[in-house]
Amino acid sequence: MRVTANEIRKMFLGFFTQNGHKEIGNASLVPKNDPTLLIINSGMAPIKSFFTGESIPPNRRLCNIQRCVRTNDIENVGDPHHLTFFEMMGNWSIGDYFKKESIRLSWNLIKDAFGFDISKISVTVFGGDEKIPNVPPDVESMEIWSNFLPDERIVPLGADSNFWGPAGDTGPCGPCTEVFYDRGLEKGCGKSDCGPECECGRFLEIWNAGVFMQYYLHEDGSFSNLPLLSVDAGAGIERFSFALQEASSIYETDVFLPLFQVIGSKINLNEHERSARILADHARTTVFMIADGIFPGKTKREYVLRRIMRRVLLHVNLLGIDSAIFLEIAKATTQSLAHHYPLLIKNNGLTQEIIRSETISFAKVLSKGLREFDKIVFKSDSNVVSGEDAFKLHDTLGFPLELTKEIAESRNMSVNISDYLTLLNEQRNKSRL
Ligand code: ALA
Repeated sequence: MRVTANEIRKMFLGFFTQNGHKEIGNASLVPKNDPTLLIINSGMAPIKSFFTGESIPPNRRLCNIQRCVRTNDIENVGDPHHLTFFEMMGNWSIGDYFKKESIRLSWNLIKDAFGFDISKISVTVFGGDEKIPNVPPDVESMEIWSNFLPDERIVPLGADSNFWGPAGDTGPCGPCTEVFYDRGLEKGCGKSDCGPECECGRFLEIWNAGVFMQYYLHEDGSFSNLPLLSVDAGAGIERFSFALQEASSIYETDVFLPLFQVIGSKINLNEHERSARILADHARTTVFMIADGIFPGKTKREYVLRRIMRRVLLHVNLLGIDSAIFLEIAKATTQSLAHHYPLLIKNNGLTQEIIRSETISFAKVLSKGLREFDKIVFKSDSNVVSGEDAFKLHDTLGFPLELTKEIAESRNMSVNISDYLTLLNEQRNKSRL
């Protein structure tokens, strides 16, 4: 193992503080005074007001490590690199440097501070997109990168990949440039034109090395200019560990080692790879959300947590193991990260209590749901769960669609989602009358 996650943390902060950035504290996962956002999903989310000029930063160059939760691609958790909880290493210029210095700093960090094999590095830049015709292609960043990398490793892409933000419904946003690490031909699709835009997994995005914060997106979809030109950059410690430790997945890094020791003592990790990854990731997210005062419930961020916890419990059930494993993974998470987050220790008792009570309440829902599911399978002569049945499970037993989908998948079945959504909308419309 070349460098540990803890060393990465120190090296990142050391590099940016040496380059004039002030380290600022990190924030709770619960946004403060921000109705546009349910959960802190990026390093910049708690410091948005610096970008809009609504508050004054303690320094024009800042850095920190911020805990984040993102559930927009929860379905991908289980693959080699998606997570719902991650620690984002962030560096910012608030009206100080812009593209040139930002890219130079990124390059120095990658090449000199971390010693990445540069032949494996590619970058993407905003190449223009008709969806946002008023934002021009970022030719300047392409030119700056060409001082460091050959043109074929500077890839222009559209807004879906290279326009970031806002973190929430409205707010600061801008074109961005991302750094990718090539894990090797054998790790991907093998096609000769495979590159950072390919989904095959060979190219791992390790760093959003700069969102060039220039615009504010309003509720009506229009952009206005921000008062300052700023930079917002962020990299997950876990992805850096994945690349620098040359692991075969993010779960094989030292970040997850203590959690996998627990999981591996109960199940065969090779046979149940996806479930093991879901248990590890979702238990970590659970621990941090509860420690920040979020409890499972029916709406908003409470529902996000409930969904995550119930997914853990469903997988535990599908694996046929004791649900106490949830508590054990939570404990291993607390132990491994308490050094950086004393609140995990402080709230450990509460975390264990909430996990216990959610386990008990979900056990009832699950056993009823599974019985109903079995009846559905028994009477069905196809391998599709109808929208009507999925809706019934949701409506009468409070069984979320995600869980129905998960159980269906475990039995090689699928769910008619569009019929389900039609019924759900009908019900919502009726209840509005
Ligand atoms: N805020 C940027 C991101 O999360 C850096 O990718």
